[in-house]
Amino acid sequence: ATQLEGRHFLKELDFTAEEFRGLIDLAAELKAAKRAGAEVQRLRGKNIALIFEKTSTRTRCAFEVAAADQGASTTYLDPAASQLGHKESVRDTARVLGRMFDGIEYRGESQAAVEELAAYAGVPVFNGLTDDWHPTQMLADVLTMTEHSDKPLTAIALAYLGDARFNMGNSYLVTGALLGMDVRIVAPKAYWPADEVVAAAREAAATSGATITLTEDIAEGVGGADFVATDVWVSMGEPKEVWDERIAALAPYAVTMDVLRATGNADVGFLHCLPAFHDLGTRIGRELHERHGLTELEVTDEVFESAHSLVFDEAENRMHTIKAVLVATMATAG
Ligand code: CP
Ligand code: NVA
Repeated sequence: ATQLEGRHFLKELDFTAEEFRGLIDLAAELKAAKRAGAEVQRLRGKNIALIFEKTSTRTRCAFEVAAADQGASTTYLDPAASQLGHKESVRDTARVLGRMFDGIEYRGESQAAVEELAAYAGVPVFNGLTDDWHPTQMLADVLTMTEHSDKPLTAIALAYLGDARFNMGNSYLVTGALLGMDVRIVAPKAYWPADEVVAAAREAAATSGATITLTEDIAEGVGGADFVATDVWVSMGEPKEVWDERIAALAPYAVTMDVLRATGNADVGFLHCLPAFHDLGTRIGRELHERHGLTELEVTDEVFESAHSLVFDEAENRMHTIKAVLVATMATAG
C-alpha cells in the first residue's frame, strides 16, 4: 500500500522506484473502483488550490475531477486573477495558501517557484508542469504503458523523438531510468537533455538497471521499441520565432508510419501528452500551414488516428493517476 502522507511531488526523482510504482498500482485500483461504481471517498473535507500560470486542459480537469470524485474541493487560480507574480511573492503566497488549503498544485515556467512554494506552504505541493519536469504526466504514461504491455516495466523499451531539452524529454529520461526501463532519446544532439539531467538519469540507472541511450540515429533509437513517444516542437512560453529552426531541425524526427515500422514491432504503442499538432484543428496549426504548407508536425495524422495511438487512454489516465497522488499524499490514515 502506498502511504506518502504529507509528501510533495515536484519531480519524478522525489520518489523511489517503489513509491512511484505504488502510485501506479493505486491509480489502477482507483480506476477500477470508479468503473465499478465502488469508489470510496478518502478526501472529504479537504481543499486543494490549483495555481495555473500557464494554460491547461488535461491537468486542470484531472485535478478538479479527481478531487470531486474523492470528496475534496478545488479553487482555481489563474495568473490574471491572483496576486501571485504581480503584487505578492511565491513565499508569501505559499504561507497564505498553506493556512487555508490541504494541498497546492502549481503549473508555471519555473521549477524554482514550485520548490519555493513547497518549502513554505507546510502542505503537499504538486508540480502540474514546469519548463523542467512534468511528473504527473509521467504517472499517466507509465500507467498507460502497463495497461498496454504484458511485460514488466524493466523489460519495456521506450523511444522519445523530438525536442528532448524540455519538460517531456527530461521527464521521460529520468522516469525510464528510475523504473529500470530501456529508455532512448532520439533527437539531434543539440536537442538532447542537459548534462545534469543525463547525469541524474545515469545515477538512477546505476541502481535500477535501466539502459539509457541518446542517439541521433532513428533506426537505432526506435529498433525494438515497445512504445514511441513525442511532444510538441515548441512548448508553452517559447517565442513564435523558434518555429522555423525547430521545423528544420526536427522534421526528420516526426513520428510517421515509417518510424513505427522501423521499431520492427507490429504492436508498438504511440504516446503523446497532448496537445498535438497533427491536423489543422488549431490556430497555430493553421498559421504554420500558411507559412510552411505543413498540416502535421511532430506526428502524422495517420499515426495519431491509428490503432497504435494510445493518446486518449493516456489523457484519461491523467485523472486516475493524479487522484492517486492526492489520495496518497493527503488522505489521513484510518
Ligand atoms: N498533457 C497536459 O499536461 O495537458 P494540458 O496542458 O492540457 O494540461
Ligand atoms: N512541452 C509541452 C508539454 C505540454 C503538456 C509544453 O511545455 O508546452
